[in-house]
Amino acid sequence: MVRTLIAGNWKMNGSPASLAVIEAVVAGLGEGGPADCLICPPATLIAQAADAARGSLLAIGGQDCHAVESGAHTGDIAAEMLAGAGASHVILGHSERRADHNETDAIVAAKAEAALRAGLTPIVCVGESLEQREAGETLSVIDAQLAGSLPDSFANAGFVVAYEPIWAIGTGKVADTTQIGEVHAAIRQTLAKRFGSTGEGAPILYGGSMKPGNAAEILAVDDVNGGLIGGASLKAEDFLAIYAAAQ
Ligand code: 13P
Repeated sequence: MVRTLIAGNWKMNGSPASLAVIEAVVAGLGEGGPADCLICPPATLIAQAADAARGSLLAIGGQDCHAVESGAHTGDIAAEMLAGAGASHVILGHSERRADHNETDAIVAAKAEAALRAGLTPIVCVGESLEQREAGETLSVIDAQLAGSLPDSFANAGFVVAYEPIWAIGTGKVADTTQIGEVHAAIRQTLAKRFGSTGEGAPILYGGSMKPGNAAEILAVDDVNGGLIGGASLKAEDFLAIYAAAQ
């Protein structure tokens, strides 16, 4: 049994006033249930969010980290800094970072090693563009991203993979359950073959326009072990409704 993870990615959204959302999620989770819950706010809010979530079921994560521990990298944040601020997870290789910052699979793999070095659980994102899907390349694109973005050290570590079809992110378009099931089954097969039992136990999250209204259906698909939620994680009520759908 893979434990479900409901994770929010706030992207470049959130001000100190948004800590009220963290507090509302903490209160709403209460004793919680069989799923884990995580919010990844912008780096500026991680320490305060972690303080607000301390002792609760809500974990706090980062949205990116640098591959090295310290040095002359203006504007970057080391995995160790995220851990020091109270983060337990870090999202890596999100399609927006691959596009905005030219992150390659090799860069993502180096960041994933850094996350493990700092004691963080990496959440590595993969996903095809609409053009790649229409060309019938989805599974080969995903396989190449997994091969290049996941370091060999994942065989001995806790990690998470998120499948986020680029065309479904922030568009209101959701992959249908057949499409999701096909990709998640292929990811599971690849992970199990390469990493053995850690690959069999790693949660595989779906991300892309997941909302309270479609969460139950998506979470019921085989090999879907949770969600990575953008827009709907900015409102406590919506995010908690998605969490409730995971029960
Ligand atoms: P949306 O839920 O806003 O489509 O974003 C998904 C995503 O990119 C999460 O990382």
